[in-house]
Amino acid sequence: MFAKRRGLVALACLALIAAAAPVAAETTPVHSQRTVYEVTAADAVARTKVARTGVDVLGMDGDKLTVIAEPSQLRALRSTGLAVKSKGDADEQLAQLGKAEIGTLDFPSGYTGYHNYAETTAELNQTVADHPTLARLQTIGTSYQGRSLYALKISNNPSADQAKPEVLFTCNQHAREHLTVEMCLHIIQRLTDGYATNTAIKALVDSREIWVVPSVNPDGAEYDIAAGTLRGWRKNRQPNSTSTGTDPNRNWGYQWGCCGGSSGTGSSETYRGPSAFSAPETQRVRDFVNSRVVGGVQQIKAHIDWHTYSELILWPYGYTYNDTATGLNADQANAFATLGRQMASRNGYTPQQSSDLYITDGGINDWMWATHKIWSYTFEMYPKSGTGLNGFYPRDTAIAAQVTRNDTAVDLFLGYADCVPRVIGQSC
Ligand code: ARG
Ligand code: ZN
Repeated sequence: MFAKRRGLVALACLALIAAAAPVAAETTPVHSQRTVYEVTAADAVARTKVARTGVDVLGMDGDKLTVIAEPSQLRALRSTGLAVKSKGDADEQLAQLGKAEIGTLDFPSGYTGYHNYAETTAELNQTVADHPTLARLQTIGTSYQGRSLYALKISNNPSADQAKPEVLFTCNQHAREHLTVEMCLHIIQRLTDGYATNTAIKALVDSREIWVVPSVNPDGAEYDIAAGTLRGWRKNRQPNSTSTGTDPNRNWGYQWGCCGGSSGTGSSETYRGPSAFSAPETQRVRDFVNSRVVGGVQQIKAHIDWHTYSELILWPYGYTYNDTATGLNADQANAFATLGRQMASRNGYTPQQSSDLYITDGGINDWMWATHKIWSYTFEMYPKSGTGLNGFYPRDTAIAAQVTRNDTAVDLFLGYADCVPRVIGQSC
């Protein structure tokens, strides 16, 4: 079908230039010129300084940050006084990762093992068909472009609201972090397929109600692959006054925009939006979480938001360097850190308070904790370091090992989810 159409285009290309123009516009890179830099930033203050210049911070490994800057941002980046080393053109790196047929709206070769939106939807429906007594699929609303935002519930009686501690996993707030969709799908598969034969899994599923949102940002994820190339897109696809896209993970409504941990510029990769929860996607997840307050008690006790990359486990707060702050006392900070470190010893990630990476405001974990006292972590998945946007695009052959790697950390998390303070010997 496609080859045929392309042949036609080749034969009659002159006549079709006008008709082809919109397609060309859609595939034109949205960024004028993106260059990858490695910045030496040994502490959180230095890393926050870098993030505040508005560059796109891709990952951190040791004292090195990998960032992307456009020409207009280079002066600000250099004026941090930190060592800045060019690592080459970001879009050239992306182009080398592969190319599918233009307009196929799918991953290029080497990546077809990742689930696009249609495949994710099919996978969720198949799970419910295979395990109707363990899984129920619900839509929590739609994205800016109208895609369903799915929440799959796993429990031993999924159509009933039982009096059991609830757990939430969210994936893919950031469009290009496709490995996180695979992580959520893996959690779903393992808990449902393993229920009948694995007694540990059965015990967890029997004692919890587990919600999984495999893609918080399906518009961005589809846009990232829509040209048949990988675009390195981070935000959602909601237009703003100067550009396109709000960073969902700067749009949450606790201390939104408070602290220089997000941008007010529409073209920035960390644009926080015109107001808290201006993005339909964060609104929908917020409303879902709010709806789990039953009889005045929030049912969801613990949450992991999955990202890539850098292999980190992060906990609140992100908006302040302080270990304790309003709504987060020393015991709670200790419980966050203790469980965070124990999970890290299982998957080999580096555990730290989120602001030890760099300050962010309007992040999901701060809202979950401050508003609902949900024990909310961010996991930054594989790889530990990247030389640019390729860190977001490990080949599909890496998926199995990198999602399985988190199994025992997830099990520990699920085990403590009813009462995280138990990890420091306290009761709930
Ligand atoms: N890399 C993610 C982001 O930029 C996670 C941030 C976690 N919070 C933080 N304060 N560093 O959204
Ligand atoms: Zn992310």
